[in-house]
Amino acid sequence: MRTLTFNNGDQLPILGLGTWKSKPGEVYQAVLWAIEAGYRHIDCAAIYNNEKEVGDALARAFTDRIVKREDLFVTSKLWNDCHRLEDVRKGLSKTLMDLKLDYLDLYLIHWPVSFKKGVGFAESREQFYTYSDVPLAQTWQGMQQIQSEGLVRHIGVSNFNIGKLEELFAVGGQGPEMNQIEMHPYLRQDKLVNYCKSKGMLLTAYSPLGSGDRSTSIKKPNEPNLFEDSLVKELVDKYEISPAQVLIAYSIHRNIAVIPKSVNKERIKQNFEAADIKLNPEDLDLLLKINTQYRFIDGSFFTGPKSPYQLSDLWEIE
Ligand code: A2P
Repeated sequence: MRTLTFNNGDQLPILGLGTWKSKPGEVYQAVLWAIEAGYRHIDCAAIYNNEKEVGDALARAFTDRIVKREDLFVTSKLWNDCHRLEDVRKGLSKTLMDLKLDYLDLYLIHWPVSFKKGVGFAESREQFYTYSDVPLAQTWQGMQQIQSEGLVRHIGVSNFNIGKLEELFAVGGQGPEMNQIEMHPYLRQDKLVNYCKSKGMLLTAYSPLGSGDRSTSIKKPNEPNLFEDSLVKELVDKYEISPAQVLIAYSIHRNIAVIPKSVNKERIKQNFEAADIKLNPEDLDLLLKINTQYRFIDGSFFTGPKSPYQLSDLWEIE
């Protein structure tokens, strides 16, 4: 498996298992299947509400000696209600307890949006408007502290645009080492990718398959389907691979880590095998040219009449 390299030489396996939307009853088995298939990178988050089950699977994999802790790369994310300096460690402690780990390989600020304590990804719009006003610099200092204590090896962010990243670099000391953002052939994100690379950061692509299993509350009717895209289908025929494999290969060819989610044994294996697919440069170019700028995760759940946030606080518009 190819890896990406952090500035201190640590390696990140370029393909990982996504666990967003994996139900607690399914994710235990999915993580074990993935590790058995050879995955060494698991992407988690507190707000996915399944870290206990992921942790049960990791514990099982370690006791059964399928993998050693030091050979596995585990990422998690700080939820929006833990942005205060003293809450960063609390958020991390809960995640470490649930995952049954004593350190994380990578910890990310999930969104550049801060909520009052106890507010999750609430069902009701009213609750989304329960914001707080913690400056991102404060959250970043909390992230730097937990890194210096050795509780997390690397620190970074998710869903940050260039302006928000600059707020973190302005803090001084360790800057963000990773930005995890939505990326696929409809959303190339050149400007943000180039900025992150110029700062020595790595990138991870989320929703690489279009996250078709999102709940209808965050899904637009008639949204495009990457699996049905005419170029993707052409490449499926040409290379005799699946649409998901075309989409995973797209990120890997760009040197961007990718975390397709699946809870199905065959699809978990199929996605893993995509790491070995070689696309011709001309075909990659064609995929890169699609770039319709379509976002599956449009962030409008964090904006609205009573919200202090605009979509421009989240996204780099090209
Ligand atoms: P499942 O978990 O049943 O396999 P994303 O990673 O962009 O969030 O997309 C996840 C969605 O893609 C889920 O609905 C997942 O379903 C589905 N999926 C994952 N791998 C494949 C695959 N190889 N072929 C088709 N669908 C897939």
